[in-house]
Amino acid sequence: ISLKPYNTFGIDVKAKSFGRFESIEELETLLSERDTETPIFILGGGSNVLLTQDLPFFVIKNEISGIEVVHETEKMIQLKVGSGVEWHSFVRYSVERGWGGIENMSLIPGSVGASPMQNIGAYGAEMKDTFVSLEAFHIESLELHQFTKEQCEFGYRESVFKRALKNQYVIVSVTYQLLKNPIINTTYGAIQSEIEVMGVEEITVDTVSQAVMNIRRSKLPDPKFLGNAGSFFKNPVVSKEVFAQLAQNYPDAPHYPQESGEEKLAAGWLVEKAGWKGKRVGNCGVHEKQALVLVNYGEATGSEIYDLSTVIIEDVQSKFGVTLEREVNIL
Ligand code: EPU
Repeated sequence: ISLKPYNTFGIDVKAKSFGRFESIEELETLLSERDTETPIFILGGGSNVLLTQDLPFFVIKNEISGIEVVHETEKMIQLKVGSGVEWHSFVRYSVERGWGGIENMSLIPGSVGASPMQNIGAYGAEMKDTFVSLEAFHIESLELHQFTKEQCEFGYRESVFKRALKNQYVIVSVTYQLLKNPIINTTYGAIQSEIEVMGVEEITVDTVSQAVMNIRRSKLPDPKFLGNAGSFFKNPVVSKEVFAQLAQNYPDAPHYPQESGEEKLAAGWLVEKAGWKGKRVGNCGVHEKQALVLVNYGEATGSEIYDLSTVIIEDVQSKFGVTLEREVNIL
């Protein structure tokens, strides 16, 4: 079976076998009846992977749906969400009810189940700040385990599921806590300017959500028309010394001081300054409006895109002495 419809880069590779599940019971059946010789790969929205070859895997697509209130007070509401639910539809569901906490993360592609994997974030918000717990199915033992926030070991685009527990669990639901009296977060400059342009008087979670949707639609390519996986690289965190060196030559380099004393740099800025923005190489290239995003012009293979990313990493390294890391999972 071709995986082209199941990855937002639109890469045409095949899986050895393919299955889908809508419930924990169906997942359990798939897992217990599987050919144990074939490794498993769980696919959510397919929005953060680059497939570079045919997969000798049993690929299983998560389609667990449902949003359920598990706890509620005057101030907050806790929702348990099926991991196959599309992240943005969960954001809109909450925003429409006036609940706050995830509106800044509108329009992030992918599923709810993928959100804790890499602790998604945008415009000053991170998933971990609304996260309560999750349930995950252990592939080996066929047991359901609960994970607290601490156990997930969240970091910047990181969690234990990308590290020590990689490929061992299928996340089946995530519980989030949202505020009924939202705290609006417009610390991110681009949101403020967009809200001014929108000219609204009262700023609600919906205003913020709409502003983010406008910004993202203006800068990020829609995978329906141009294959991509959002930010291809992480924003690198460097030492004070490395930053000081860079700042000497480029006083305008965007940077965000970290609690550790280190500085986070903007990968998009580095890639643009290195001259890659809008460049096309064969069937792929660097997006013209956001240099952090690699795009597939239609017929690219995963290896072509991977090779382009390697050349960019080497070029940024030689020009700025900074090593970019890929944010997208390479398979
Ligand atoms: N910049 C450039 N050239 C570019 C792109 C960016 O000079 O081509 C500069 C911008 O001017 C700005 C800085 O780099 O000063 C940061 O850019 P931006 O605000 O667009 O955000 P980002 O750091 O490029 C991150 C996330 C995005 C998220 C945005 C908004 C990562 C790897 N990426 O991008 O997340 O939407 O902030 O919060 O952290 C994703 O993870 O897939 C993703 C899209």
